[in-house]
Amino acid sequence: MKKRWIAGALAGVMMLSLVACGDKETGTPDPTATPTAGVTQAAEPTQTGGDADPVKTDQKPDPTAEPTEEVTPTAEPTQEPEEEIPSIQSVFAEYDMRVGTCLTTQMINKSVLADLIKKNFNSVTMENSMKPDYILDKNASIEAGDLVVAFNADMVKMLDWARDNNMAVRGHTIIWHSQTPKWIFHENFDTNAPFASREVMLARMESYIRQVFAQLDEYGYTDLFYAYDVVNEAWMEDGKIREEMNYWYQIIGEDYLWHAFYYADQYAPETIDLYYNDYNEQYKTDALLKFVDTLVDEEGNYLIDGIGLQAHLYTGDDLKGYLNTVERLGATGLKIELTELDVSLGTWQNTLYGTDENLRTQGKYYYELIGGLFELVKEEKVKMDALTFWGFADGLSWRKNASPLLYDTMYIPKYALYGVLQMEEKAGY
Ligand code: GLA
Repeated sequence: MKKRWIAGALAGVMMLSLVACGDKETGTPDPTATPTAGVTQAAEPTQTGGDADPVKTDQKPDPTAEPTEEVTPTAEPTQEPEEEIPSIQSVFAEYDMRVGTCLTTQMINKSVLADLIKKNFNSVTMENSMKPDYILDKNASIEAGDLVVAFNADMVKMLDWARDNNMAVRGHTIIWHSQTPKWIFHENFDTNAPFASREVMLARMESYIRQVFAQLDEYGYTDLFYAYDVVNEAWMEDGKIREEMNYWYQIIGEDYLWHAFYYADQYAPETIDLYYNDYNEQYKTDALLKFVDTLVDEEGNYLIDGIGLQAHLYTGDDLKGYLNTVERLGATGLKIELTELDVSLGTWQNTLYGTDENLRTQGKYYYELIGGLFELVKEEKVKMDALTFWGFADGLSWRKNASPLLYDTMYIPKYALYGVLQMEEKAGY
């Protein structure tokens, strides 16, 4: 539930093949799986670490590691002219769903990429430019004695592009342990000083959240946004809150989460759905269910509108189990969005090459996953009004060695694309 929009609330992104639509190597390990030889393994189920605080790849599945299977030549499923292939958005429109991709400035500057986006998608999520590292201004904060939000040129450029091309936008992300500057947590914004107090951090959080929505309004972008990730990646697979590097938690305590949604509920316009977003959702389902139940106001109304499931999946992942997670979370009545969907070849311990066989497996996986989601929507078991892919072409993916996306490195459609388009005859069967 959302309250009023506080009107007038004040003040206040190489070469193309190297443009990763992702900034970091977040694994989506199966905590129950026994690691086998091959790709670098996680010491423990873990993910995350962004530009700001990269996690060493020897502590986690390394998406850039060479696949462990023997290479056989990749067969192309078809060479059909692009204009004869239906668009992804036309398929999702049948279910009243938006469909999106993550976005970088490099993508909008390269016409082959921009054209594929315009054809297929009607929603975008900034890859990096709206993360805390990119919108918090240290000098201005020191000067103001308060945390100051300052939108950056890449963000503005991409939002203008989104508007010019009729794209809706998902905001990503406000409160996160990663890609967040450390200075915001210290007295006087000085990392040599002690941590600020709980009260000061709550006041900074409120001011930060208020400014995000106020500035979107001042810039005239509010109407582009339909959803915003208020908090990203706060829970662990063992059901405990993330403690490591999570200074919001370390200083404020566990109720930093409630406060983040409380403030967002207060300052965000009604038209923007407020989301909690996380990875490894199929292993954290119980924790997430418990958590969202705490995000209520004094009258018991939800302060949250939706649960974002990152959906960084593998063709070896249990598909039925995944759909079951979606259904269980959907039973809360909250909206559910897959927010960063990609399906890597293999498993997190053992990624595979893009052989014809593996790509067919992926095509079928996408076919069944998207088909399964459409079923849940049709049967009204899950409220899902959007789904976002973490990119669309393998060469641009943060997991490019595991070929997780819909077009190959030459922008040729894969079985995966046909799977998403629900064209069973071309999806690799
Ligand atoms: C997480 C974050 C995204 C992005 C991906 C990896 O899932 O939510 O913003 O950093 O990791 O690219």
